[in-house]
Amino acid sequence: MSTGQVQPNNDADRVKIFDTTLRDGEQSPGITLNTREKLEIAHQLRRLGVDVMEAGFPITSPGDFEAVRAIANEVTDTVVAALARANEKDVTVAGEAVRDAERGRIHTFIATSDIHLEHKLRMTRAQVLAAAMDAVRLARTIVDDVEFSCEDSTRSDPAFVAEVVGAAIAEGASTINLPDTVGYTMPTEFQRFLLDLYERCPELHDVTVSVHCHNDLGLAVANSLAGIQVGARQVEGCINGIGERAGNASIEELAMILRTRAADLGGLWCGVDTTEITRASRLVSRLTGYVVQPNKAIVGRNAFAHEAGIHQHGVLSNPLTYEIMDATSVGLAQNSIVLGKHSGRHALDHALRELGYELDRDELNAAFTRFKEIADLKGRLSGVDLEALVSDEMRVEGGDGFRLDELAVTTRSAEPPTARVVVTDKDGTHREGTGTGDGPVNALMHAIDAAIGSTGVLLEYQVSAVTGGTDALGEARVVCEIGGRNYSGQGVSTDVLEATAVAYLRAVDASRRAGHGERVMAGGV
Ligand code: KIV
Ligand code: ZN
Repeated sequence: MSTGQVQPNNDADRVKIFDTTLRDGEQSPGITLNTREKLEIAHQLRRLGVDVMEAGFPITSPGDFEAVRAIANEVTDTVVAALARANEKDVTVAGEAVRDAERGRIHTFIATSDIHLEHKLRMTRAQVLAAAMDAVRLARTIVDDVEFSCEDSTRSDPAFVAEVVGAAIAEGASTINLPDTVGYTMPTEFQRFLLDLYERCPELHDVTVSVHCHNDLGLAVANSLAGIQVGARQVEGCINGIGERAGNASIEELAMILRTRAADLGGLWCGVDTTEITRASRLVSRLTGYVVQPNKAIVGRNAFAHEAGIHQHGVLSNPLTYEIMDATSVGLAQNSIVLGKHSGRHALDHALRELGYELDRDELNAAFTRFKEIADLKGRLSGVDLEALVSDEMRVEGGDGFRLDELAVTTRSAEPPTARVVVTDKDGTHREGTGTGDGPVNALMHAIDAAIGSTGVLLEYQVSAVTGGTDALGEARVVCEIGGRNYSGQGVSTDVLEATAVAYLRAVDASRRAGHGERVMAGGV
């Protein structure tokens, strides 16, 4: 057993971890992951040891449907859930997406608060009750594992919530989720709400009660913890706490609370291998373009750093003076892999396997070519560099969009910078474009726009080093407004302008996918 897992105790005290990074997380503004990227995150979630991963919302677009189906087919040892509103079409399509899963779940939901009934659903309570029952009944004809959620449960009449969940259980739902959809509740209030529901609906004792908390008041993790302390045995959240608006409860914080405060939580435990947390966090940040704030608990770059001299002194004489967790328990300091420019394919393969990547021959060849190019420039690559490089390369290989072939940016004093790009589109057509701008980034974006006919407005732009040192790999992240919506992109290279061009192309790719995706759902979740 790895050092990242808490020794299992009693099964009744096990808290199932339901990860919704690929669904609620992907609903964050600007995030649009393609199937390949979702699969990569799904495999990392599997390594992390989550119990359930919600892979998407299949009715929303053909892309989402395909991604859920691909994950359901590839990930066999974790429950793969598909979200569906409580109607026949959604449930049927979600069922189709997880039909071939080894352990598929349909997660169907409907709002129960009067404000949602009146202003969003325009349904009566009787209609909502009937829709919930019909949806669960239909879902149970497709899969054995059905979860039912009362959206906005914490602002709903508890008597009505109890009636609806009782009916859902009677129709065969085995998990009942009680979301704090708008992030409004507080820990003790949420506990009272849940305890009251157990009284009103004793059948809740026969199913898994789940909590799903949003972070609008910064209480998502505290409310989730409060929920499991009064009986919930499934907790929902996202890596890095991403998700609608202010996000969802952050999975890494919940897992580390369960681990660090195990002695005080009455035996509650989860099956997460916490040594996989850092890698999961970096991967999600890289593929979504959502930067993790430096002081973020558990995964921020300062989470285990000691700046003040007095703290450093204390930690050197005894880490327990200021440390409540060990950096290795989240997989931080354990990464000692270093490859040099003379390392061969075999060494790369070995290092990648240690990092958790199993590449087929073609992928390994592509990764090796990229590794050699970068190692020639940089000399040595750390495990973190390799992670960045391989996940970047896998996106290029599996990419369904543009590839940057050439980039030349010229800056001369007293003249605006100019750029020239050659880009290959997914049909293999080469497209060339030139542009000028106020600065080099502006010029390269104009050149790309001229080559592929895009028009993006740069809203956010960040460049950071993957690891330290003057020869570090650079990682560029952009958020652009394209066609009235925001899209993010990310790229990695030893040349930051090249990384920026790749990041911008990925944002354009994401916008094209969304444009072709025919999103049929608007709002509501
Ligand atoms: O926040 C929410 O209510 C949801 C449901 C779909 C579970 O995301
Ligand atoms: Zn949610």
